[in-house]
Amino acid sequence: MSHSLAPALRPQRSLLSVPAINQRALDKISSLACDGVIFDLEDSVSPEKKDEARANLSAYFAKPPAGNRLSIIRINPLSSTFGADDLTLVVSTRPDAVLLPKVESAADIQAVERVLSEAGVPETTRIWAMIETAKGVLHAGAIAGSRETSVPRLEGLVVGLNDLRKETRVPARQGRTFLIPWLMQVVLAARAHGLCVIDSVFNDFRDTDTFESECRQGRDMGFDGKMLIHPAQIGPANQHFGPDHEAVAEAEAIIAAFAQPEAKDLNVINLDGRMIERLHLVEAERLVQLARRIEKTNLIDQRKTAP
Ligand code: COA
Ligand code: MG
Repeated sequence: MSHSLAPALRPQRSLLSVPAINQRALDKISSLACDGVIFDLEDSVSPEKKDEARANLSAYFAKPPAGNRLSIIRINPLSSTFGADDLTLVVSTRPDAVLLPKVESAADIQAVERVLSEAGVPETTRIWAMIETAKGVLHAGAIAGSRETSVPRLEGLVVGLNDLRKETRVPARQGRTFLIPWLMQVVLAARAHGLCVIDSVFNDFRDTDTFESECRQGRDMGFDGKMLIHPAQIGPANQHFGPDHEAVAEAEAIIAAFAQPEAKDLNVINLDGRMIERLHLVEAERLVQLARRIEKTNLIDQRKTAP
C-alpha cells in the first residue's frame, strides 16, 4: 500500500482558469493576485489549437513570472487523442498539480499516477480530479479514497457544474438549491480522505452580487476556494474564502488559552463561557497558519505591483 502525501497548506481561495491558447491572458497572470492558475488545455481550447496551446505552456513554464501562485495544468482525458501529449507536457513542465477532467473512477487517476511516477516526476507534482459528471459524484468517495491506496499524489477535487448541469438537466438557479446535495457529497468525500476541495466556476462574470453570494455559500459548505474564469472574480473570492479577522482573533485566543500552564493536561477548557475542546485547537492552528501564509502572499503581490 502506498503512503499518501500530506496536502500542502497553501491558500487556494482563487484558482483562475486561463485558456492555454490565449497568450494575452497568459501574459496577464503576473499582475493577478490569484492564489493559483489552472492552465486549461481542455474545454477552452479547440481540437485544432491543442498543439499551439501546449507550446504556449512550454514557453510559459520555461520562464514563469515571480510569485507564489499554484500552477495547475488541466489536461484532456487520457481516453481522448490529446491526453497522452498533454501528460508529456506535464512531465516536462512539472507544475504543482495536474488536473484531470471528468474523473469517474479511481482507475482514471491511477493511470496519471503511473505515468508521472514512471517518468520520475517528483511527488511535488500532485494530482487533482474534476468531479463534473453524474458518475463522478456517485463515485466521489472511491475516487478520493484512492489517495490512501493507489494514488498518493491525489491532493484535491474540483467541482465542475457546467458539465454536471448539462448531464443532469438541473438548471442554473440562484442559491443552487437542487445541486447542494451533490456539492456536499463532494466536500464530504474530500474531507473523509484529507483532500482539498474547490467550488465550481460561476459563468456570469459581470454579476458581482450573485458571485459574491455564491462565494459565501461555497465557503459555508466547506470549500477551500473557487475555480474562476475572469480576473474580476479574484478579489471577491480572496475576500470570502479567506479567514476573516474575527475568526483569526478567535483562533488566536484558543491557541493562547491552551498554551496556559493550567491547560496543559486538559482536553476541554472554558473560554469566556464557551466550551472549547482540544480538537478546536487543531483547526485554530490551521486557520492561523493559513492567515499568515495569505498575509505573506499579499506582501509579495503588493511589492510586485508597486511602481
Ligand atoms: N485569465 C487571464 N486574463 C483574462 C481572463 C482569464 N481567464 N479572462 C479575461 N482576461 C483578461 C482579458 O484578456 C482582458 O485583458 P485586456 O484588458 O488586457 O484585453 C481583461 O481580462 C478583461 O476581459 P474582458 O474583456 O472582460 O473579457 P474577455 O471577453 O476578454 O474574456 C472570457 C471573457 C469568458 C472569454 C474569458 O474570461 C475566458 O476565456 N475565461 C476563461 C474560460 C475558461 O478557462 N473556461 C474553461 C474552464 S470553465
Ligand atoms: Mg468541464
